[in-house]
Amino acid sequence: PHTAVIIPAAGRGVRLGPGIPKALRLLNGVPILVHAVRAMAAARSVATVIVVAPPDGAEGVRALLDEHPLPRPVALHVVPGGTTRQESVRLGLAALPADADVVLVHDAARPLVPVDTTEAVAAAVRDGAPAVVPALPVTDTVKQIAAPAREGEPVPVTGTPDRALLRAVQTPQGFAPDALLDAHRRLAGLGGEEGATDDAGMVERLGLPVVLVPGHEEAFKVTRPLDLVLAEAVLARRRI
Ligand code: C5P
Repeated sequence: PHTAVIIPAAGRGVRLGPGIPKALRLLNGVPILVHAVRAMAAARSVATVIVVAPPDGAEGVRALLDEHPLPRPVALHVVPGGTTRQESVRLGLAALPADADVVLVHDAARPLVPVDTTEAVAAAVRDGAPAVVPALPVTDTVKQIAAPAREGEPVPVTGTPDRALLRAVQTPQGFAPDALLDAHRRLAGLGGEEGATDDAGMVERLGLPVVLVPGHEEAFKVTRPLDLVLAEAVLARRRI
């Protein structure tokens, strides 16, 4: 078996605050992206990791990764990304080895995903599912609104979906390579300015089944400043 992983790491991460791109922020002295690459390389079926760097930052990212040892030897490629996440994934897919039987797409911004979660996703693809997503129940009640409101103004609510029927999705999301390649070929340019926010969403639009496996609370996305505090705490707990 040959699992290849695409790690889109071209985002600016503005919600974390101003400064360097999110993937290059340090967590315990090591860039978030390096944690994410190590988390993927730690999975035994993973043989290839393709990092999608900021469009003008591929050389710097390559140098950074070469400075940090990986837990297992993998083929490591760095390619320049695009202006949307969807475009960055498409550019990563162009470097996919022909013999890969599973492709995972993993956010650089989820540095602490456990190996067992990664292996469970890859195994479900290998067992025949075209698209597999790790997911958790939502703990907050979620409100529907009609449109994004202006900051500071009260927002009218249009509905409250049944929380039992909602799941929050994480990464790595796993795919049969043909399913994801097909989705990108057929849906290129669709999905608005931001593109798809999730890779499985593109495969859903082709009408292919997408299944969920249990996610993990340590697979959370480092998005806001408080997430950095939480991530450092998780790492501290792992060391004892
Ligand atoms: O913005 P968000 O947190 O949803 O980004 C998820 C992942 O997509 C991050 O790892 C980010 O670096 C990546 N991304 C990218 N190219 C973009 C935008 C986001 O690779 N143009």
